[in-house]
Amino acid sequence: MTTDIYLTGITTTGTPHIGNYVGAIRPGITASKDLSTQHFYFLADYHSLAKNEDPDKISQSTLEIAAAWLALGLDTEHAYFYRQSDIPEIPELTWILTGMTAKGLMNRAHSYKAAVQANVQGNNKDPDKGITMALYSYPILMAADILMFKSTKVPVGQDQKQHVEMARDVAQRFNHHYGETFVLPEALIGEDTAVLKGLDGRKMSKSYNNTIPLFADEKRLRKLIMKIKTNSLEPGEPKDIDGSTLYDMYKAFASVEETRDIEEKYASGIAWGEMKQILVEYINEQIKPAREEYDRLIADPAIVESELVKGAIRAREIAVPFLEQIRETIGIRKLGS
Ligand code: TRP
Repeated sequence: MTTDIYLTGITTTGTPHIGNYVGAIRPGITASKDLSTQHFYFLADYHSLAKNEDPDKISQSTLEIAAAWLALGLDTEHAYFYRQSDIPEIPELTWILTGMTAKGLMNRAHSYKAAVQANVQGNNKDPDKGITMALYSYPILMAADILMFKSTKVPVGQDQKQHVEMARDVAQRFNHHYGETFVLPEALIGEDTAVLKGLDGRKMSKSYNNTIPLFADEKRLRKLIMKIKTNSLEPGEPKDIDGSTLYDMYKAFASVEETRDIEEKYASGIAWGEMKQILVEYINEQIKPAREEYDRLIADPAIVESELVKGAIRAREIAVPFLEQIRETIGIRKLGS
């Protein structure tokens, strides 16, 4: 049996929030402690260009996301932790894969189709209005990320599953055309990792602007948690845990026993205000040590930079020879040798 290679990317937009932590960062760090498997985590900064973000925001987000993973204890001796743009072989492979990607496949990408639909609904004459080629070709860059390191398992949210399947399609087509080269990846949708809801009850997401930043200080954390939507049940009235954002959030941080205690409190009618108070204290206690480290790293970005550079050197030990082999395969060769 070959060992599994796990790989996942984080687009460098926005600041890490507790939904990212519970859904991706924490499970990623836990998984990377299994020394019998390999792990690649990287900052997908070229992906952030699809949305033409403000340059300063992209670089700030890169710093914050990298600092978060480091502060939370990712072991960068074992896991590969790097920035996509430090591996020039990735965009190079992207172009090579573009030659093996059916345009029709890209037409079917959900993210592209959603952008077109928004234009149509907005009565735009051009259904492609404002859609860049970076948005359109986004899945090919993602395929390069995945295929470069021969990943077998790609932990992603449900919304990214189709992209992983596209990477698989492209790999298959390449292998069929040029001979076995790429390993076929599989999406790993964490079933027991919680998808947290945000302040307004919808999925916590930077695109809904309903997030709680992971390293908000206690005051800010309290302010945001106080804003979480609840129903109008009075103190003393029994409350349902199903559909309660506060309960889900508590459960995502607490042990099984603690969660059971809270369930009893719901049944006996805990006041929403008290539950919010408990939640603030609980999350704050858990996050505090990492927050101190995070603040230290944000104040000294050179430490983060050197971690990323170190990660890129390791990752390129794989990427450089593999790309060399791929170029040979497709006929981009030195002459006369
Ligand atoms: N597109 C992913 C997201 O927005 C991020 C990403 C980029 C990624 N490259 C990847 C995820 C490769 C998994 C594998 O969430």
